[in-house]
This record gives sequence, structure tokens and C-alpha cells, in this order.
Amino acid sequence: MTEQAQSERGIGPEYLVAGRYRLRSKLGGGGMGAVWLARDTLLHRDVAVKQVTTTAGLDPDEARRVRERTLREGRNAAKLTHRHSIAMYDVALEAGEPWLVMEYLPSRSLAQAMNIADTLPPLEVAQIGAQVADALVAAHAAGIVHRDIKPGNILVADRGRELGTVKISDFGIARAKGDAAESTNGVITGTPAYFSPEVARGQDPTEASDVFSLGSTLYTVVEGQPPFGIDSDSIALLHRVAKAEIYRPAKAGPLTETLLHLLEPDPARRPTMAEARDALARVAMGGDGDVAHLVGSPVYSADGTIPSWAHRSTPLPPPHRRSKIGSTQAGLPAVPQSTPLKNVPRPLGKLQWPPRPTPPAPGAPEPTVRDQVVAWAPIAMGVMVAILILAVLVAVVVLLAQP
Ligand SMILES: Nc1ncnc2c1ncn2[C@@H]1O[C@H](COP(=O)(O)OP(=O)(O)O)[C@@H](O)[C@H]1O
Ligand SMILES: [Mg+2]
Repeated sequence: MTEQAQSERGIGPEYLVAGRYRLRSKLGGGGMGAVWLARDTLLHRDVAVKQVTTTAGLDPDEARRVRERTLREGRNAAKLTHRHSIAMYDVALEAGEPWLVMEYLPSRSLAQAMNIADTLPPLEVAQIGAQVADALVAAHAAGIVHRDIKPGNILVADRGRELGTVKISDFGIARAKGDAAESTNGVITGTPAYFSPEVARGQDPTEASDVFSLGSTLYTVVEGQPPFGIDSDSIALLHRVAKAEIYRPAKAGPLTETLLHLLEPDPARRPTMAEARDALARVAMGGDGDVAHLVGSPVYSADGTIPSWAHRSTPLPPPHRRSKIGSTQAGLPAVPQSTPLKNVPRPLGKLQWPPRPTPPAPGAPEPTVRDQVVAWAPIAMGVMVAILILAVLVAVVVLLAQP
């Protein structure tokens, strides 16, 4: 439903959804629909409600299928209870439209955190990754594929008793958001920057594609940009994802090897979610770290405090980097490729990763000719030394060869 149609129906603060959930304020709006803070008037608790799909403009049969699919997804997500995932409470039908009713976590997302911190330290990212992966292991065991793992769907409590607690949201919602067709048929829904290569090529998302998207998400928060770079043109980005050629991480430190393993082009070479979780826990806690020690704990910085980006008192700057984070989109065309993914070299292989352009700091002067000469000097010296060594070698060989 469009914003205009919603406001015509009076959907806004004080609107009562399904006779039970009173809307209070908008928490945000992703690719489709908005998320509202609402009051459950029956149980007297705060909840987050979200209309993920609409039946407006569909014929009655299609509308019924969309409704049923959303209910199915709601039921699926409701099977999952985990300390690091947002609980699904209810699917409410309001004028025939399904709304998801979820646990409300006063929080900021990792996408918002990146507006404060640019990049997060590898040790914090490893803890977050291990906790989210633990929730995803439980989801996969219950037969739920997340389908839309990205920084915007990882929430970190920003106040109260739960401060610093990490929870993943929007389980399986990307499927409910799609058009009426049951099978995707070359049409994909999700967030292009975090798609796995096989999903960009048109395959249905699987547990292994969740592993890749978790890798992309963690890569993004540690590096400050997604593994396939930034492009406001979703189709161009989708082509790069389908080719599976990522930029090598430069700031991931002890997390580098684990990230590259999660980002293997071939789904068969990726770790399972449980293996990914254990590897992330080892990075977070050193050698023999066990995820059991991390589950239920808030995220800590190296100095043992909860990082300042997680505190509500740390102000959020305007979302100047929203295009980098990416929002969920429906109806993207798949981009098949001729090279099978098992033939794409591993990220650790011979591929030459294009160097990342480092933008000059704002106000920094243009490099002068002298700066450029200084920058090239070590290479020139190296070449000269090599020529000298070669000359000496040739001279020795010539001398020895004389009778
Ligand atoms: N359960 C929740 N509790 C608190 N805030 C939430 C919850 N779910 C979503 N939000 C907030 O609403 C914003 C928009 O969510 P959403 O529509 O899913 O968009 P996206 O996932 O693309 O960021 C999120 O970034 C988050 O800040
Ligand atoms: Mg979301």
C-alpha cells in the first residue's frame, strides 16, 4: 500500500491495527512498508509492527495466495526462539492485509552504527557475527532460511538492561515481500549488495546463501563498504555479485581468513552456519573460544566496555551513507553467467583484486609532482638495485667463462 493510500485510511499514530495494536511512532521504513512502535493493548507491552506486503490491486486469488504466504512465513518465524533473534509474536489481519507483530528492541541497527563509526573493530564484529550465526543455526535447523541478512537487519539494543545485545530481525520476510508468484522464476527479492553469487544468478536462496550474506554483512561493517563495492545502479551491482569477484578485505585483521571462507564463490566450499559460528567465536575470544561464552552477552570492545556506537546517547549523524547500506528490493532480474561458480577462484587464489581507491580527505591538497616522485622512489630504487645485481652476475659469468 502506498503512503498516500495508508494515510487516506488513517494509518498513523493512534491507528488501531486488528483491534489490538495501537500505532505510536514510525521506527523506520525499509524497502517496503514501515515499521511502527505500537502498544499491544491486550498484553500492555510495546511491540514492533510491520506490514511487509500488500494485496492492493491483486485479483482475489492472488490476494489469497499472498496472504497465505505471509501467514506461513509468520508461522515459520514464530517457531524460532533465540536470544539473538527478534521474536515473532503474531500475524494480525487488518482489513485483509497481514501485519507482522514482533518483539520491540529499543536499538540501532549496524547500518546506523556505521554512520557513527565508519568501520567497527574486527573483534566486535566477530562477537556480533558469532551471536547472529548462532541464531541462524537454530533457524536453519527449524527449516527457515533468512534470505535478507544485512547490516540494517542486525539490531543492537541501545539502552536499558539489554544495552549492547545483538538480535537479527526480518526472518524469511524477503520471500513474503515478493510478488504473487510462488517460485521466483528468475526474479529475486532482497538487498543486492549482500546477495550470494548463486542467488544473483537466479537460484533460490539456501542455508549456504545465508552464510555468504552473513559474510558480506560482517565484511561491510569491518571494511566500511560491501565486498562488491558500492554502486547506486542495482543491476550493475548484481552483475558484479553474479561474477563472484570480491575486493579483498584490508581492515579485517584476525577476521580476514574467516570472512574469505564465508565468501567462497562456490556454495559447496563455504562452511556451514555452525562452522562459521565456531570460527567467528574463535576469532572473538582467541584460539579455543566457545560460542557458549558469547551467547546472551552484550557486545564488548577491547577495553571491556560496551562500545560507544551502541549507546543511544551517542548521536546519529544524518544518514549520508544510506546508498552504501542498501535497502530491500523486490522483482530484480537474475543475471545468469556462463562460468560455473565451482570454477571461480577462491578469494584467496590468484585473482588480482582491484585496489580500492582511497578518496583524499576533505580539504586535502592535490598531490604535487614532488609527492608523486617521492611515492615512486622506492620502486625506482628497487629496479636500479635489480639492474645492478644483474650486471654483476653477468660480469661474473663472463669472467668465469673465459679460458
Ligand atoms: N523489532 C524491532 N524493534 C525495534 N526497531 C526495529 C525493529 N524492526 C525494525 N526496526 C527499525 O526499523 C528500521 C526499518 O526496518 P525495516 O523496514 O526492516 O528496514 P531495513 O531492514 O531495510 O532497515 C530498522 O532499521 C530498525 O532501526
Ligand atoms: Mg529490516
